[in-house]
Amino acid sequence: MLGREAQAIYSQAGHEILPTDIVSTDHILDITQTSQTISLLGEYRPDAVLHCAAWTNVDGAESHKLEAYRINALGTWNLAYACSLTGIPICAISTDFVFDGEKSEPYTEFDTPNPLSVYGKSKLAGEMRLRDIWSKHWIVRTSWLYGVHGKCFPDTIIKAAAKWEPGAPPLRIVADQCGSPTWTRDLAAFTLLLIERSLPWGTWHFSNQGETNWHEFARTALNLSGLGSVPTIPISSTDWRSPAPRPRKSTLHPLSIEMLNLPSPPDWKDSLSSYLKERSDKIGKG
Ligand SMILES: NC(=O)c1ccc[n+]([C@@H]2O[C@H](COP(=O)([O-])OP(=O)(O)OC[C@H]3O[C@@H](n4cnc5c(N)ncnc54)[C@H](OP(=O)(O)O)[C@@H]3O)[C@@H](O)[C@H]2O)c1
Repeated sequence: MLGREAQAIYSQAGHEILPTDIVSTDHILDITQTSQTISLLGEYRPDAVLHCAAWTNVDGAESHKLEAYRINALGTWNLAYACSLTGIPICAISTDFVFDGEKSEPYTEFDTPNPLSVYGKSKLAGEMRLRDIWSKHWIVRTSWLYGVHGKCFPDTIIKAAAKWEPGAPPLRIVADQCGSPTWTRDLAAFTLLLIERSLPWGTWHFSNQGETNWHEFARTALNLSGLGSVPTIPISSTDWRSPAPRPRKSTLHPLSIEMLNLPSPPDWKDSLSSYLKERSDKIGKG
């Protein structure tokens, strides 16, 4: 989802891109394979690496711990090592799920992580390996991503609402987890800013501004899509049993952005509205 968005944004900005994936691409790269990773980076020697690859199935990670660690920790370690051998800066994407959600205020880059889930722990392990072995890095923590290039929450809700018929039960949506939905477009543009302007190495928080919960996020998406009449019910996390524990409130505070007087991330409702317009144009075009 993020990788394809970044590919488009970076290309529009005039950069030459070498998109890689584990399958279906001209440049296959399995980041869990150390020698393959070293050899691809050594051959192409890019000016920078944007690391979007991950095990992102949060619930599935609970029963596939080794696979999640292999991709999120070992994969990031391999990329960090390969970048260090060739001197290439790397921008790696991490998550708000490195936090436990118990802080009442939004988390800054200087707060101490304490992940609850295997996914969050494996992402934090990747962050730690990267910090340990290669200084020329940006770690960008983000949250609740959505975009046109993959399965995402607003898309799922809109599809479910479009199938809803009068008399059917309302859609049940969790309302006691807070965070910030973030459009992949805005995040991709921010990673480009970090790389193009050689902003300081280290950890950055980037999410769309404002805080919401999944139920309000869904309601906003439905209202903006002309599906506001479809009924929904706010439920609690205990009513929606999922294998992975999730932070109650994992809103990110972009303190590094503020300290450096960089442009604030756009508001989540504005970005959601732009995304939905683009989504509907794309569907309209078939
Ligand atoms: N989605 C969110 O809500 C969210 C929130 C916070 C942070 N993030 C982070 O943001 C980043 C981008 O997320 P996303 O939602 O764009 O993820 P995504 O759509 O799931 O993309 C991840 C990609 O990594 C690929 N991949 C898996 N194993 C690989 C391997 N061994 N080598 C190379 N590629 C591999 C996947 O391929 P297959 O599909 O073939 O497995 C997939 O194309 C990730 O670091 C994620 O942890 C995501």
